[in-house]
Amino acid sequence: MSGPKPYYVTTPIYYVNDAPHIGHAYTTLACDVLARFMRLDGHRVKFLTGTDEHGQKVEKSAAAAGMAPQDFTDRVSRNFRDLAAAMKFSNDDFIRTTEPRHIASAQAIWRALDAAGQLYLGSYAGWYSVRDEAFYGEGELSDGPGGTKIAPSGAEVDWVEEPSYFFRLSDWEGRLLDFYDRNPNFIAPESRRNEVISFVKGGLQDLSVSRTSFGWGIPVPDNPDHIMYVWLDALTNYITAVGYPDTKSEDFSTYWPATLHMVGKDILRFHAVYWPAFLMAAGLEPPARVFAHGWWTNEGQKISKSLGNVIDPLHLIERYGLDPVRYFLLREVPFGNDGDFSHRAMVGRMNGDLANDFGNLAQRVLSMIQRNCDAGVPAPGAFAAADSALLDRAGGLRDRLRAELGAQAFHKALIAIWEVVGEANRYVDDQAPWTLRKTDPARMATVLYVLAETIRRLALVTQPFMPDAMARLLDQLGQPETARGFAALDGALEAGTPLPRPEGVFPRFVEEAADG
Ligand code: MSP
Repeated sequence: MSGPKPYYVTTPIYYVNDAPHIGHAYTTLACDVLARFMRLDGHRVKFLTGTDEHGQKVEKSAAAAGMAPQDFTDRVSRNFRDLAAAMKFSNDDFIRTTEPRHIASAQAIWRALDAAGQLYLGSYAGWYSVRDEAFYGEGELSDGPGGTKIAPSGAEVDWVEEPSYFFRLSDWEGRLLDFYDRNPNFIAPESRRNEVISFVKGGLQDLSVSRTSFGWGIPVPDNPDHIMYVWLDALTNYITAVGYPDTKSEDFSTYWPATLHMVGKDILRFHAVYWPAFLMAAGLEPPARVFAHGWWTNEGQKISKSLGNVIDPLHLIERYGLDPVRYFLLREVPFGNDGDFSHRAMVGRMNGDLANDFGNLAQRVLSMIQRNCDAGVPAPGAFAAADSALLDRAGGLRDRLRAELGAQAFHKALIAIWEVVGEANRYVDDQAPWTLRKTDPARMATVLYVLAETIRRLALVTQPFMPDAMARLLDQLGQPETARGFAALDGALEAGTPLPRPEGVFPRFVEEAADG
């Protein structure tokens, strides 16, 4: 097929044991920016998110809420959909692991693994953490209070003994190492890749992939005493959504293997070790890349329910507005590192980068045009060197962003955009169009044209990050919906286009008002 490569990006599917928090919003936001960018850049895009609804953790939470698991998951899953709407996530699908399409797909991968001789029946005796839904070896644990054992994640583990099917993970050590070797971009960032490789080199044991001591899960085909291990069930969502087991379907052939699975660092092992092993064992290709991002703390503290410092993304949006929150989360912390949320840092970005730097640039330029150019795009004369330099810098952003976002370096993409914002602000000061108004009106028109065109280019490439504010800015530049894809970067503003009265797109955060 010709044209740009199809792009398939996925978020982890979220456990429905709890309300959505900033960590969930963060992972999906990163994927949303990539999906929007790739669509604007002309790719066919599939962006998937959803909820992980089976397993012991969800079963326990439902019991604690006094509800049947299906009713409970219906309710909590809805909260994740509501979050997606509030954050303006542009996902093309929302998958729930309790849907018939997924149950069929999970049972199909089970059959494929079984047919390939990759499963055998045995019994599991060992440690299990319900919070992590993960099995741990004795050597990974430390002693907790009151004789308890604690996993590296900090979660308590229980001793479990039950009949179980096993997946022959130990057979895959060599093939996984070989796969990592041949696909150096499969795991990012680099430091995480090294961790995974040393984990696999340390030796892999067969993995328990079914449970018998509780019932909330997908029945194992032909042996309904067992339900599938929730991670085998959950990981399969990525292929369910493209039509598995119909590997000949249009969606599967277009979008599989996925371009990118975005995950938090805590669940990298499942995605970078177990998942490619399951896929290869079932005769399917592994995804092209898994990126593990870092974790947020709140004002320097680990976020936890017991500390009562969980950050609700809906509260952030209410307080600061959606676009500033989207900007902050991707600008503040180099993507891949851990980061700290603080009110002070949030307001600093909002009032500095947004209101002062970008907001004032747009407001100054558009008001000058409104007052001095008959409320329309002025007709430029010949460009001077400084004019072309600025326009070229703004025009070069598309390539720069392709590279930075191709590496999931969101912060670098934003820094690159703000370098041009800074140059445009210096250009305004250097050219002083308010002085030219009296001394050289023709030159003033050229300067204002160059600035308006620079702002148009900035607004186009910033859309994936802040879709609302940039839509309003493009409205103020008289740009129709049809001129908002990146192909529009090959064109330029047309002189004489009427421009509506400008309105600020980035409000300042005023402390008193919020504290009241
Ligand atoms: N259900 C599994 C994923 C299955 S994917 C086949 C799961 N769900 S989760 O709801 O517990 O977590 C989902 C994501 O939220 C993870 O990527 C995790 O890293 C992320 N975060 C949870 N807390 C976080 C922070 N405090 N900061 C950033 N991300 C965090 O795991």
